[in-house]
Amino acid sequence: MTPLPPIPVNEPLLDGNEEKYLVECIRTGWISSEGPYVRQFEEQFAARVGRKHGIAVANGSVALDVAVTALGVGPGDEVILPASTIISCAAPIVRAGAKPVLVDCNPDTWNMDVAQIASRITPRTRAIMVAHIFGLPVDMDPVLALASKHGLKLIEDAAEVIGQTYRGRPCGGFGEVSTFSFYPNKHVTTGEGGMVVTDDAALAERCRGLRNLCFKPEQRFLHDELGWNFRLTNLQAALGVAQLEKLDRSVETKRRMGARYTELLAGTPGLQLPVPKTGYAENIYWVYGIVLGDEVPFDAKEAMARLGKLGIGTRPFFWPMHEQPVFRRMGLFEGEHHPASERVARRGFYVPSGMALTEAQMDRVATAVKGVLA
Ligand SMILES: Cc1ncc(COP(=O)(O)O)c(C=O)c1O
Repeated sequence: MTPLPPIPVNEPLLDGNEEKYLVECIRTGWISSEGPYVRQFEEQFAARVGRKHGIAVANGSVALDVAVTALGVGPGDEVILPASTIISCAAPIVRAGAKPVLVDCNPDTWNMDVAQIASRITPRTRAIMVAHIFGLPVDMDPVLALASKHGLKLIEDAAEVIGQTYRGRPCGGFGEVSTFSFYPNKHVTTGEGGMVVTDDAALAERCRGLRNLCFKPEQRFLHDELGWNFRLTNLQAALGVAQLEKLDRSVETKRRMGARYTELLAGTPGLQLPVPKTGYAENIYWVYGIVLGDEVPFDAKEAMARLGKLGIGTRPFFWPMHEQPVFRRMGLFEGEHHPASERVARRGFYVPSGMALTEAQMDRVATAVKGVLA
């Protein structure tokens, strides 16, 4: 019997106007960041998340570098952020010479445990960085209250929740500066790409400068400050415009996918599944995460290896920031423990969750997961 084809952990769906807009770029010759789709994508994306300004950048990681730098975070400052997130959140803080201060995750939602933030605030705290993880937003009301009480800036990493809302307000609408990623596993993809959004015109100008080498507007090739070339091309923005047109449908697809996985996997002993709904949001299942219960005699690495042999693509949960060799070598996070983040790193992984996933593929994934646990 021929083996079934492998199921990749993610496959994007480019079934709208992507090709048409790309062909237009090629026919008109507009392929650089000067092309008209860049501004169109920035304006339409910012409007979609209820913000005044959008600044398109090369990816979601550098969007965070721009955000942290634009807010003036620097030596002597502390920034509170989740332990369980991608290194793209912590790296800009460290690069800026500031101190990252971690909080553990909530063991159910896998998001930052907001109840722990207050105890981490010191006179040096300059900002809180939230990162919405895996499809449910961080519980923002307590974060906003703390930021306001202590006069802290809020940086919001909304990379994983394009199209999600918190109490009806779009995610990406909460930070002084908020950021997004358009990597192919995101609900809007440009291949590689990112966006910084803000309501503050001066901050937006600063972000535009940082994205483009800080050329002085009145005299090119003169620089008061060091920036980067983090520009997005017209080709990428063309994809973004086409993808944004389908965002509502994409979110619906993801919700249907999450509900189906839950229907297939609920009740399987030893599996913790995503929380479908909280008082403030319904999950949009950016990815469908699974955490192995303590009764399972192996960890996520072993489960992923077994699933790999069955042709099922998986990815582990984030490895926590306080256990990153690069940061430990810098003397950061010495002796720190964040037990929930440590646990989900070792026992959590996610299954194929891409926009192009079919119901038959989901059935096969669920059968394989149950088989591996049996
Ligand atoms: C929460 C979060 N922030 C930032 C990023 C970085 O985005 P990019 O891969 O576009 O650099 C990601 C990437 O997946 C992410 O999940």
